[in-house]
Parts: sequence; structure tokens; C-alpha cells
Amino acid sequence: MTDNKTNVNTVVLSVDPINPDINKINRAAKILADGGLVAFPTETVYGLGANIMNDKAIQSIYHVKGRPADNPLIAHISNQHQISLLTDSLTPKAEVLMKHFWPGPLTMVLSKAERISKSVTGDRNTIAIRMPDHNVALLLIEHTGFPVVAPSANLSGKPSPTKAQHVMDDMYGKIDVILDAGPTGIGVESTVVDLTTKPPSLLRPGGVTVKELRDFIPEIKVGEYDNSPPRSPGMKYKHYSPNAMVILVEGSNDFKSKRINELADLYFNKGKKIGIMITDSLSGHVDSKYNVRVMGDTNDLQKIAASLYSLLRELDSLNINIIIVEGITRTGLGFAIMNRLEKAADEIITEKHEEVIFNG
Ligand code: TXA
Ligand code: MG
Repeated sequence: MTDNKTNVNTVVLSVDPINPDINKINRAAKILADGGLVAFPTETVYGLGANIMNDKAIQSIYHVKGRPADNPLIAHISNQHQISLLTDSLTPKAEVLMKHFWPGPLTMVLSKAERISKSVTGDRNTIAIRMPDHNVALLLIEHTGFPVVAPSANLSGKPSPTKAQHVMDDMYGKIDVILDAGPTGIGVESTVVDLTTKPPSLLRPGGVTVKELRDFIPEIKVGEYDNSPPRSPGMKYKHYSPNAMVILVEGSNDFKSKRINELADLYFNKGKKIGIMITDSLSGHVDSKYNVRVMGDTNDLQKIAASLYSLLRELDSLNINIIIVEGITRTGLGFAIMNRLEKAADEIITEKHEEVIFNG
């Protein structure tokens, strides 16, 4: 089992994402039940799972990720009956949301049942709950027999893993099992909504868009999700960041291509290794001598979301010093994509005032 002091023998079990081998699921479920750590795919990103009833396993999650103790974990469930274990106050609004969005990339924050340890919730009286839309995750939870807590399976502060290889890069030798079912679909994490506030508030934009949420909670409070003091503790730390310095450039296509080329030349002349992430619309407009990666078409935000973390990690693996990223519009999934890029960025350059925001 996972021991903080020794090197753990990490086993990778490859499974089919639709019809996984039940023997392998059972093997991983048993390890979870016994207090081990198992990384598994969800429809958003890979999660690092532990038994919600085992405090020692939960401590191991914080330890292997290097995660601050006040950043609570999401409890993952595989059927709606399990929710009564986690909360005693399922609100009518929560019932409507779970009927419509589960399984899927929506996490609901509700008041925590007494029986759940505060080590799960970073000492809070609320608990985040979601039902992932991935057969491997659902079967794993089902076979474990209890909710599984799981943060994203990356080292704290790094881009979330969208492939098993990313989990290997961050967690090899630290966790017991990685269930490899290929790349995850959505690529950015779930949307987190706090239903304990009046009106409900958006804590993290994600796979479910604000527009979709507004059909069910028109009064939802958006836009204060990263104010301080942060109510979603995860949002106060630098996040989703590769080792390289990240510069985000926003504005018209003309402005973006001009500034991206200028910045690349500037840092290249200082001896830096440059990576550039753009959409199709700037393809051919940035100097190809740099390590240029195309995230996708601006009309295909799904594709951009799905490639985002993978490209940041890929450029990092080339020992790039500076990654210059093209900003996109904040509509639909673009809102979550830009939220992640803003968090990852060391510098944000926007056309409007030519202002530079230093992000620490
Ligand atoms: O898509 C996802 O949500 C992925 C997959 C693995 O399910 N999980 C994930 O977990 O992104 P994590 O730990 O990386 O992010 C959880 C976010 C953090 O921002 C955390 O602060 C917030 O949810 N959160 C968890 N419990 C909370 C609570 N009780 N109150 C407020 N925010 C909470
Ligand atoms: Mg995370």
C-alpha cells in the first residue's frame, strides 16, 4: 500500500474505456478499499482516487500531490443513492441539477454530513460531489462500494493530466495503480457550483457552460469565483502551470500575431527557447522557427479544451523557457479555457489598454 516514505511500485493497468476488463477494475477497487491510491480516467481529466472513509489514504493524496491541506477534495459517486452518505440536505435545486447533468462534468458543493471526515473537505462543513461520465470511473466506484475522493492526478500547480502518461510523469513511484483508458474527452475539469449560497455561485468554470447552468439556475452568481477570500480554496493558488513561463496574449488577430511574434523574437534574442500555442486563425502568421503548436479551430472549443493541458506539458518536455499562448473569446467552453490560461499565466497582455498584468 501507499507509504509516504518508500518508493511505491506503480502498476499500470490498460483498460478499454467503454468495456473495461472487470478483473482489472476489481483489482484496482480492492486496492482503493484497502487504503491505496488509484489514478483513473474521467470524462474531464484523470483523477487520483482514495477511499473516502480512510483518513490515512486521504493524507497520502495531499502528500503525493504536494497539495495544501486547506484545498478540499471532490467526492465521486457512481449512483445517486451514494449521495445520502455525503450530505443530509439535498436541496430541490441540487436534485434538478443532478437529474439533468449527471453523470457529467458538474460538481455541486452541498453541506457535509457529520460522518464525513473534515480531512476530505479542508476543514469545511461543505462537500463537493460529482458523478463522472466515464465507464471506467463509474465501474471503479461501483466495485469499491463507496464514494471515491479524487483531485486531478497531477502534482499540485501543474496542468491536469489528460493522458495516463501525464499521470506517470507526475505520480510514478508514488501511487499504487494507474488505470489507463487513453485520453480523456473534455480536457478541462468539471464546473464547480456552490449550492449552499443564496443565490448559488459558480466557484470554477468547467465542462458544463454557464449558459447551460442558467437554464436551471438563472440567478447563479458568476464572476466572483476568484475573489478573495476564496471560497473555492483551489482557485487561490497558481495553477495549471507548466515549468516554462507562460505569456497570454489577447485581442484582435492582427494584434495577437504582431505581439506574439515580437515577444518570441524578444525572448529568442535573449537566448530563450520559445514555444507558441495558437488557434487555426493564426496558423501561418507566426514564425515557424519557434515550436508552434495549434490548439484547434476557434469554432471548435471542444478541441481546444481537449488539447490545452497536453500541449502545455508537451512544450515543457522540450525544455521550453517561454510559452506564448493565444487568448480566445470567453464564450461557452472558452470561459473555462481562458480561466485556466489566466491562472497558468505569468503575464497577460491585452490589446485594449496594452496593459500587462503580472500574476505572481
Ligand atoms: O473534473 C474534475 O473535477 C476533476 C476530476 C478528477 O473529477 N477533479 C478535480 O479536482 O479537478 P481538483 O481537486 O483538482 O479540484 C477541485 C476543486 C478545487 O478548486 C477545490 O478547491 C474545489 O473543487 N472544492 C472542493 N471541495 C470544495 C468545497 N467543499 N467548497 C468549495 N470548493 C471546493
Ligand atoms: Mg486540480
